[in-house]
Amino acid sequence: MMASDVLKQKVAEAAYTSLERFIQPNWVLGIGTGSTVNCFIDCLARSNPPFACAVSSSLQTSDRLETLNINIADINDVSEVMVYIDGADEVDPSFALIKGGGGALTREKIVASMARKFVCIVDESKMVDCLGEFSVPVEVLPFAHQPVATKLGKLGGNPKLRAGLTDNGNCILDVGGLKIDDPEYWEQTINDIPGVVTTGIFSLHRPQEIFIAKVDGSVDHRVGH
Ligand code: A5P
Repeated sequence: MMASDVLKQKVAEAAYTSLERFIQPNWVLGIGTGSTVNCFIDCLARSNPPFACAVSSSLQTSDRLETLNINIADINDVSEVMVYIDGADEVDPSFALIKGGGGALTREKIVASMARKFVCIVDESKMVDCLGEFSVPVEVLPFAHQPVATKLGKLGGNPKLRAGLTDNGNCILDVGGLKIDDPEYWEQTINDIPGVVTTGIFSLHRPQEIFIAKVDGSVDHRVGH
Protein backbone atom coordinates (compact mmCIF):
# COMPACT_ATOMS: atom_id res chain seq x y z
CA MET A 1 0.00 0.00 0.00
CA MET A 2 1.29 3.47 -0.86
CA ALA A 3 1.76 6.10 1.85
CA SER A 4 -0.70 8.95 1.69
CA ASP A 5 1.96 11.59 0.97
CA VAL A 6 3.10 9.54 -2.06
CA LEU A 7 -0.51 9.46 -3.30
CA LYS A 8 -0.75 13.23 -2.89
CA GLN A 9 2.39 13.70 -4.96
CA LYS A 10 1.18 11.30 -7.65
CA VAL A 11 -2.20 12.96 -8.04
CA ALA A 12 -0.68 16.44 -8.08
CA GLU A 13 1.82 15.41 -10.76
CA ALA A 14 -0.92 13.78 -12.88
CA ALA A 15 -3.08 16.90 -12.73
CA TYR A 16 -0.10 19.14 -13.47
CA THR A 17 0.98 17.01 -16.46
CA SER A 18 -2.53 17.13 -17.90
CA LEU A 19 -2.73 20.91 -17.49
CA GLU A 20 0.82 21.96 -18.36
CA ARG A 21 0.53 21.93 -22.16
CA PHE A 22 -2.52 24.22 -22.08
CA ILE A 23 -1.14 26.92 -19.78
CA GLN A 24 -0.93 30.31 -21.51
CA PRO A 25 1.01 33.47 -20.56
CA ASN A 26 -2.25 35.35 -19.86
CA TRP A 27 -3.72 32.72 -17.53
CA VAL A 28 -4.69 33.39 -13.93
CA LEU A 29 -4.50 30.15 -11.94
CA GLY A 30 -6.54 29.67 -8.76
CA ILE A 31 -4.68 27.75 -6.07
CA GLY A 32 -6.48 25.99 -3.22
CA THR A 33 -5.26 25.02 0.22
CA GLY A 34 -3.97 21.84 1.84
CA SER A 35 -1.29 19.20 1.66
CA THR A 36 -2.34 17.86 -1.77
CA VAL A 37 -2.36 21.31 -3.36
CA ASN A 38 1.05 21.97 -1.79
CA CYS A 39 2.38 19.14 -3.98
CA PHE A 40 0.77 20.81 -7.01
CA ILE A 41 2.41 24.14 -6.10
CA ASP A 42 5.75 22.35 -5.98
CA CYS A 43 5.18 20.97 -9.53
CA LEU A 44 4.33 24.47 -10.71
CA ALA A 45 7.45 25.95 -9.14
CA ARG A 46 9.69 23.18 -10.55
CA SER A 47 8.41 23.51 -14.13
CA ASN A 48 7.90 27.27 -14.02
CA PRO A 49 5.50 27.54 -17.00
CA PRO A 50 4.64 31.02 -18.27
CA PHE A 51 1.34 32.22 -16.74
CA ALA A 52 0.19 35.64 -15.59
CA CYS A 53 -0.30 35.07 -11.87
CA ALA A 54 -1.92 32.97 -9.16
CA VAL A 55 -4.91 33.81 -6.99
CA SER A 56 -4.57 32.23 -3.58
CA SER A 57 -7.30 30.76 -1.34
CA SER A 58 -5.48 31.21 1.99
CA LEU A 59 -2.62 32.92 3.79
CA GLN A 60 -0.93 29.52 4.09
CA THR A 61 -1.02 29.03 0.30
CA SER A 62 0.12 32.62 -0.29
CA ASP A 63 3.15 32.00 1.94
CA ARG A 64 4.12 28.92 -0.06
CA LEU A 65 3.60 30.67 -3.42
CA GLU A 66 5.67 33.64 -2.27
CA THR A 67 8.46 31.44 -0.99
CA LEU A 68 8.61 29.75 -4.40
CA ASN A 69 8.58 33.11 -6.22
CA ILE A 70 5.17 32.57 -7.85
CA ASN A 71 3.47 35.85 -8.68
CA ILE A 72 0.23 36.38 -6.68
CA ALA A 73 -2.60 38.73 -7.68
CA ASP A 74 -5.17 40.36 -5.41
CA ILE A 75 -8.47 38.68 -6.19
CA ASN A 76 -10.11 42.10 -6.51
CA ASP A 77 -7.84 42.87 -9.49
CA VAL A 78 -8.81 39.72 -11.40
CA SER A 79 -11.98 39.26 -13.45
CA GLU A 80 -11.68 35.55 -14.18
CA VAL A 81 -9.68 32.55 -13.07
CA MET A 82 -8.90 30.12 -15.91
CA VAL A 83 -8.39 26.99 -13.80
CA TYR A 84 -8.78 26.44 -10.05
CA ILE A 85 -6.91 23.50 -8.49
CA ASP A 86 -7.85 22.27 -5.04
CA GLY A 87 -8.16 19.21 -2.83
CA ALA A 88 -11.20 18.07 -0.85
CA ASP A 89 -12.11 16.24 2.33
CA GLU A 90 -14.90 14.16 0.74
CA VAL A 91 -16.11 13.67 -2.84
CA ASP A 92 -19.42 12.01 -3.76
CA PRO A 93 -20.22 10.27 -7.08
CA SER A 94 -21.81 13.46 -8.47
CA PHE A 95 -18.62 15.46 -7.67
CA ALA A 96 -20.24 17.34 -4.76
CA LEU A 97 -17.57 17.99 -2.11
CA ILE A 98 -16.96 18.67 1.54
CA LYS A 99 -14.11 21.12 1.96
CA GLY A 100 -12.72 23.25 4.76
CA GLY A 101 -10.82 20.73 6.87
CA GLY A 102 -7.98 23.25 6.64
CA GLY A 103 -10.30 26.16 7.43
CA ALA A 104 -10.02 27.94 4.06
CA LEU A 105 -13.53 27.13 2.79
CA THR A 106 -14.79 30.68 2.21
CA ARG A 107 -11.88 31.88 0.11
CA GLU A 108 -11.83 28.51 -1.65
CA LYS A 109 -15.48 28.86 -2.61
CA ILE A 110 -14.94 32.40 -3.86
CA VAL A 111 -12.04 31.36 -6.08
CA ALA A 112 -13.97 28.28 -7.30
CA SER A 113 -16.90 30.54 -8.22
CA MET A 114 -14.60 32.68 -10.40
CA ALA A 115 -13.05 29.77 -12.26
CA ARG A 116 -13.83 28.60 -15.77
CA LYS A 117 -12.72 25.15 -14.69
CA PHE A 118 -12.35 23.61 -11.21
CA VAL A 119 -10.00 20.62 -11.05
CA CYS A 120 -10.08 18.63 -7.81
CA ILE A 121 -7.16 16.42 -6.73
CA VAL A 122 -7.63 13.73 -4.07
CA ASP A 123 -6.58 10.26 -3.06
CA GLU A 124 -9.17 7.51 -3.10
CA SER A 125 -9.73 7.65 0.68
CA LYS A 126 -11.72 10.84 0.01
CA MET A 127 -14.26 9.11 -2.27
CA VAL A 128 -17.61 8.35 -0.55
CA ASP A 129 -21.09 7.26 -1.61
CA CYS A 130 -22.74 9.97 0.50
CA LEU A 131 -21.16 13.10 2.02
CA GLY A 132 -21.25 13.57 5.78
CA GLU A 133 -18.93 11.05 7.40
CA PHE A 134 -16.43 13.96 7.53
CA SER A 135 -17.91 16.71 9.74
CA VAL A 136 -19.11 19.64 7.62
CA PRO A 137 -17.07 22.79 8.36
CA VAL A 138 -19.24 25.91 8.59
CA GLU A 139 -17.61 29.35 8.84
CA VAL A 140 -19.65 31.65 11.11
CA LEU A 141 -19.40 35.16 12.47
CA PRO A 142 -17.91 35.02 16.00
CA PHE A 143 -20.88 37.16 17.13
CA ALA A 144 -23.31 34.36 16.27
CA HIS A 145 -21.55 31.02 16.76
CA GLN A 146 -23.92 29.83 19.48
CA PRO A 147 -27.23 30.74 17.74
CA VAL A 148 -25.92 29.14 14.54
CA ALA A 149 -24.85 26.03 16.49
CA THR A 150 -28.34 25.81 18.02
CA LYS A 151 -29.98 25.96 14.58
CA LEU A 152 -27.57 23.35 13.17
CA GLY A 153 -28.46 21.13 16.14
CA LYS A 154 -32.17 21.47 15.27
CA LEU A 155 -31.34 20.29 11.73
CA GLY A 156 -29.90 17.10 13.26
CA GLY A 157 -26.24 18.12 13.31
CA ASN A 158 -23.75 17.92 16.14
CA PRO A 159 -21.71 21.16 15.87
CA LYS A 160 -18.37 21.58 17.63
CA LEU A 161 -16.60 24.93 17.82
CA ARG A 162 -13.09 24.61 16.32
CA ALA A 163 -10.24 26.31 18.18
CA GLY A 164 -8.80 29.39 16.47
CA LEU A 165 -10.05 31.78 13.81
CA THR A 166 -10.05 31.68 10.01
CA ASP A 167 -8.03 34.00 7.75
CA ASN A 168 -11.19 36.14 7.72
CA GLY A 169 -11.32 36.41 11.53
CA ASN A 170 -14.32 34.09 11.85
CA CYS A 171 -15.08 30.85 13.74
CA ILE A 172 -15.62 27.39 12.33
CA LEU A 173 -18.25 24.94 13.53
CA ASP A 174 -17.48 21.34 12.54
CA VAL A 175 -20.87 19.70 12.14
CA GLY A 176 -21.01 15.93 12.57
CA GLY A 177 -24.04 13.68 12.27
CA LEU A 178 -25.44 15.04 8.98
CA LYS A 179 -26.17 12.70 6.08
CA ILE A 180 -25.71 14.95 3.05
CA ASP A 181 -27.87 12.94 0.65
CA ASP A 182 -29.03 16.11 -1.17
CA PRO A 183 -25.94 18.37 -1.25
CA GLU A 184 -27.69 21.34 -2.91
CA TYR A 185 -30.49 21.33 -0.32
CA TRP A 186 -27.99 21.14 2.56
CA GLU A 187 -25.67 23.80 1.12
CA GLN A 188 -28.57 26.21 0.65
CA THR A 189 -30.22 25.41 3.99
CA ILE A 190 -27.02 25.93 5.99
CA ASN A 191 -26.10 29.07 4.00
CA ASP A 192 -29.52 30.55 4.85
CA ILE A 193 -28.90 30.49 8.64
CA PRO A 194 -28.20 34.10 9.72
CA GLY A 195 -24.59 34.33 10.91
CA VAL A 196 -23.27 31.68 8.50
CA VAL A 197 -20.57 32.97 6.19
CA THR A 198 -20.04 29.78 4.15
CA THR A 199 -20.66 26.07 4.37
CA GLY A 200 -17.98 23.59 3.34
CA ILE A 201 -20.49 21.76 1.12
CA PHE A 202 -19.53 22.54 -2.49
CA SER A 203 -22.48 21.50 -4.63
CA LEU A 204 -23.25 24.73 -6.47
CA HIS A 205 -19.60 25.05 -7.53
CA ARG A 206 -18.55 21.46 -8.21
CA PRO A 207 -15.34 20.53 -9.99
CA GLN A 208 -15.60 19.64 -13.67
CA GLU A 209 -12.65 17.25 -13.38
CA ILE A 210 -11.32 15.05 -10.61
CA PHE A 211 -7.99 13.27 -10.40
CA ILE A 212 -7.99 10.37 -7.91
CA ALA A 213 -4.79 8.65 -6.76
CA LYS A 214 -5.35 4.98 -5.99
CA VAL A 215 -3.43 2.77 -3.59
CA ASP A 216 -2.32 0.53 -6.49
CA GLY A 217 -0.31 3.51 -7.81
CA SER A 218 -2.64 4.46 -10.69
CA VAL A 219 -4.44 7.79 -11.06
CA ASP A 220 -8.05 7.97 -12.32
CA HIS A 221 -9.12 11.03 -14.28
CA ARG A 222 -12.89 11.61 -14.19
CA VAL A 223 -14.70 14.32 -16.11
CA GLY A 224 -18.14 15.51 -14.97
CA HIS A 225 -21.20 16.04 -17.12
C1 A5P B 1 -8.79 23.41 3.10
O1 A5P B 1 -9.63 24.26 3.78
C2 A5P B 1 -9.54 22.22 2.59
O2 A5P B 1 -10.68 22.51 1.87
C3 A5P B 1 -8.63 21.31 1.81
O3 A5P B 1 -8.78 21.47 0.43
C4 A5P B 1 -8.97 19.92 2.16
O4 A5P B 1 -9.01 19.88 3.57
C5 A5P B 1 -7.98 18.92 1.61
O5 A5P B 1 -6.76 19.00 2.27
P1 A5P B 1 -5.61 17.93 2.10
O6 A5P B 1 -5.17 17.99 0.67
O7 A5P B 1 -4.55 18.35 3.07
O8 A5P B 1 -6.22 16.60 2.45
